[in-house]
Amino acid sequence: MPAPEIKKDIFWVGVVDWSVRNFHGHTFNTKRGTTYNAYIIKDDKNVLIDTVYGPNACELIENIRQVIEPGKIDYVIANHVETDHSGALPGIMKLCPKAKVLGTAKCKEGLYKHYYGDWDFQVVKTGDKLSLGKKTLTFLEAPMLHWPDSMFTYLPGDEILFPNDAFGQHYATSHRFDDEVDQALLMEEAAKYYANILWPLSSLVVRKIEEVQKLNIPIQMIAPSHGIIWRKDPMKIIKAYLGWAKNETKPKVIVVYETMWGATEKMAHKIAEGIIASGLEVKLFNVAQSDHTEIIQEMLDAKGYLFGSSTHDNNMLPGMGGFMEFFKGLKPKNRIAGVFGSYGWAGGAVKEIEGVLKEAGIENIHPSISFQYLPDKEEMAKCPVYGQDFAQRIE
Ligand code: FEO
Repeated sequence: MPAPEIKKDIFWVGVVDWSVRNFHGHTFNTKRGTTYNAYIIKDDKNVLIDTVYGPNACELIENIRQVIEPGKIDYVIANHVETDHSGALPGIMKLCPKAKVLGTAKCKEGLYKHYYGDWDFQVVKTGDKLSLGKKTLTFLEAPMLHWPDSMFTYLPGDEILFPNDAFGQHYATSHRFDDEVDQALLMEEAAKYYANILWPLSSLVVRKIEEVQKLNIPIQMIAPSHGIIWRKDPMKIIKAYLGWAKNETKPKVIVVYETMWGATEKMAHKIAEGIIASGLEVKLFNVAQSDHTEIIQEMLDAKGYLFGSSTHDNNMLPGMGGFMEFFKGLKPKNRIAGVFGSYGWAGGAVKEIEGVLKEAGIENIHPSISFQYLPDKEEMAKCPVYGQDFAQRIE
């Protein structure tokens, strides 16, 4: 595949992974695959920005050869240690053993603990520059976005930001740029990526974007390490990130539940009727039959969450338990949540879910509703009312 020139003397040499369906140890369902983006800048000194996942190293090397012989690489910028961007580094370094690797101090430690390579490593800090001849790179540390080692690289003149994982999407496509793909699908994948990876780090995202804005650097292009490159309107994704990171929401309720013999599911549908009657958008997900990655994406802009489960062994059902464990780590702010469910004798699911909500830092918990066995007519009639009461609390 020819390496596309994204700007004069700057080439995309990454890899499109069409078939990957699970990422981060099955925590992210990559139903549209992904890309591992790497870039070559040709100048008096040649630079490779990031590599790709180890099993794709041969393809990266082939793509680099479309532009230059790998032995002519003078510098490798390691914006991030995680293996999907550094896995091919040992193979690359065999081809250009005299190249210098540049990254943060944490990157140096992390790369060593991954590959134990004896490479010439130069630690860089925010504001450090690297002259290539006509072009000069500038570095900006971005700790915990999303690992301690993370770093952005900026290329003035061409006005390109290489932020590694930030602003990426798990989206395999033959296109390289935002203006070449379906906009709704692109933003859906960008939101899914933010919700499932960066949401817990939102306060750091806001701080980093504000830091970049204060630097007043022009940005014509954002070239992340996954998915398409933002060139049509790079501000579009920056604005979206600010909204997500500030936990901006709309009047929308997500109902997530798991049911044993159907009673909790019937409650979920009746509660949703009450929310719909109140004029709010609502989406229901039976967690046992839904893509968890998509549920989390739908939660990103929703103000209200309702969680339901039948009781099993004094606890919520195991599918719900796994989902709530992931949800707890997201630490969403400014949300209202409620819990519902059915039980046979002792109960327990509702209390357990409420406990998880408190651990997740949800302060606004609506009183719960639960019924024994199959709710009768009178009990079932209380469900839409519950939905309406809940909807009244949603702005
Ligand atoms: Fe943090 Fe795409 O790896």
